[in-house]
Amino acid sequence: MSDSRPIGVFDSGLGGLTVAKEIFRLMPRERIIYLGDTARVPYGGKSEETIRRFGLQDARVLLDLNVKMLIVACNTVSSVAIDYLERNIKEVPVIGVVLPGARAAATRSAAKRVGVIGTAATVRSGAYAKAINSIAPDIKVYAKPCPLFVPLVEEGLIDNDITRLTVQHYLYEMVDLGIDCLILGCTHYPILMEVIQSTVGNRIQLVDSALWTAKEAHHIMKALGAEYPAPITPGLTDPKEQPKKAGQFSVEASEGFAASRFLVSDVTPNFESVAETLLGAGLPSIEKVSVEELEEKEP
Ligand code: DGL
Repeated sequence: MSDSRPIGVFDSGLGGLTVAKEIFRLMPRERIIYLGDTARVPYGGKSEETIRRFGLQDARVLLDLNVKMLIVACNTVSSVAIDYLERNIKEVPVIGVVLPGARAAATRSAAKRVGVIGTAATVRSGAYAKAINSIAPDIKVYAKPCPLFVPLVEEGLIDNDITRLTVQHYLYEMVDLGIDCLILGCTHYPILMEVIQSTVGNRIQLVDSALWTAKEAHHIMKALGAEYPAPITPGLTDPKEQPKKAGQFSVEASEGFAASRFLVSDVTPNFESVAETLLGAGLPSIEKVSVEELEEKEP
C-alpha cells in the first residue's frame, strides 16, 4: 500500500523548516505542504488559549488541502496544544515535536540529568519534563528559555561572536548542573547546533527534536503503509538508498522538495533569507494564505 498525498507540516513561522529538511532527508520522495504563520509569529509569548486556537487554525488549513498526516513542527504549539489538537483532529495522525525529542533524551541520559532549551511558553508548560518523566521518573529535567536565539537565527547571525556570547550566557549554567543531554526544544535551534555544541562541550549530547520527529513520522508512514509510492521504473531516487548524513545533504537532491508547497501568512522582507538559512536552500515557490483565511477555520 502507498499514499501519494502530501504530509502537512506547520509552525508559527519558518523554524519548522528544520523539521521539513529532516523529512526530505529521511523520506526523499515525500511531498509536504508547509504552513508558516509568519504574520502572527512568535507564538512563544502568547497565552495558552491563543496558541491552541492558532494551532487548530493552522492544522485545519492543511487538512483542507488533503494531507495524509500532520506534523506540528513547533515546540510551542506541541507543548501547549498537542492534546487539544489530537482531540479535535480525527482524520489523520497528528504528531508533535516534544514526545520524539523527550523519548530520545530519556533513553540517552546516563547521568539522569537532562537540559531543555526553548521559548518561554515551551519552558513554562513543563511539557518536556512531563514527557521525559512519564518514561523515566528518576530523570531530573532543567529547562531554560533562550529568547534571543530565534532573532539571532532570523538575522543570520549563526557563526558569530554575538551568538557565541549569547549561547554562553544562557548555557554555562546548564553545564554546571551536570546534564549529559540537552534538548534543542525550539525548531530554530538546530541551526545553532555547532556553536551550542562547542560551548557546552562534547560530554553533553545534543538532542535535535526536528530529527527525532522526522524519524517518528517515517516510522508511522511505514507502519500505516502510507509512504509515497515507489517509482514504477527506477527514477532519480533509489528508495533503498540510505538517508544522507545531515552534513552532506541538500534538500534540492530530494525528489519531493520541488513538488512540495510552502504557504505563509505574510511574505515578510527577510522571509527568503531566513527560509534559506533554516532549510539550506531557497524555496521552490511561495503561496500566501491570509490571516482572515486562517481565522475562518476556527473563529
Ligand atoms: N518555532 C517556534 C518553536 O519551536 C519558535 C518561534 C515562536 O515563538 O513562535 O517554539
